[in-house]
Amino acid sequence: MASTTLVTGGTGTLGRLVVPRLHDAGHGVRVLSRHPRQGGDDVEFVTGDLATGEGIQAAVEGTEIIVHLAGSSKGDEDKARHLVRAASRAGTRHLVYISVVGVDRIPVVSGVDRTMFGYFGSKLAAERVVADSGLPWTTLRATQFHDLVLMVAQQMARLPVIPAAAGFRFQPVDAGEVADRLVQLALGTPAGLVPDMAGPQVHEMTTLIRGYLQAHRKRRPILPVRLPGRAARAFRAGANLAPDRAVGRRTWEQFLAARLSSPSDSSVVTR
Ligand SMILES: NC(=O)c1ccc[n+]([C@@H]2O[C@H](COP(=O)([O-])OP(=O)(O)OC[C@H]3O[C@@H](n4cnc5c(N)ncnc54)[C@H](OP(=O)(O)O)[C@@H]3O)[C@@H](O)[C@H]2O)c1
Repeated sequence: MASTTLVTGGTGTLGRLVVPRLHDAGHGVRVLSRHPRQGGDDVEFVTGDLATGEGIQAAVEGTEIIVHLAGSSKGDEDKARHLVRAASRAGTRHLVYISVVGVDRIPVVSGVDRTMFGYFGSKLAAERVVADSGLPWTTLRATQFHDLVLMVAQQMARLPVIPAAAGFRFQPVDAGEVADRLVQLALGTPAGLVPDMAGPQVHEMTTLIRGYLQAHRKRRPILPVRLPGRAARAFRAGANLAPDRAVGRRTWEQFLAARLSSPSDSSVVTR
């Protein structure tokens, strides 16, 4: 094994795809989780909470590279701060961060913006923590993963009428392809903010939901809802898209078809 790489968020949708790829590349892998887990031959688990900083110093000790994927709807800047503090003490030689396309173009200024789009403000603040850390760093911004679109569609399809943000478009990307890119970046030299990674096609939100409904032979009326605020306006203008960076290959339709044929095993379709 070349060296040990810490993957925060290694238990999440993206992280579960990054961990085996790092291992296949010959890296020892340590995964941080808030919950105690049994490790195996391939992966060591450590327990810690980035929101409080508890357990983080021990988690980073002895690792040269950190792939920071842990995230939630709130407070990612605080998580980044705790990680950076520990990583600086440990002398980490490369910090790789995953962010979201458009964080610099989606203004989160009013209470309405913060309530609905606070996540984007928090990701931008976390990016700045990484960039200002003094550590060698690389940040990749990706568009929404197919898995996220699927989860939203599943939740919405439970409703008798589906409210869909009017004018919103998405360019979903395959999480497995993002994992490939992150591993390539982690094994390379620190590169700062690298070009965005977006899926192959831009879709209206309503088209994505209809695709899901059709695939599951469901019928639901879709009700367009105009969201207020500057962040929503930026979304309608396509701030979350990167059409000139449509480097992802797997389409939403291909993802859905694969998921339908093997619903319980995400690794079948993404590795
Ligand atoms: N989903 C998307 O469409 C998308 C698009 C672009 C970028 N991203 C970014 O990609 C990253 C991964 O997204 P995902 O969809 O894979 O996330 P996810 O499935 O929701 O997983 C979140 C991960 O974060 C960890 N985590 C959350 N809070 C933590 C805390 N306080 N301390 C330590 N670990 C914590 C969780 O670990 P435990 O539960 O085991 O503690 C889990 O492994 C996030 O940073 C997200 O912002 C996501």
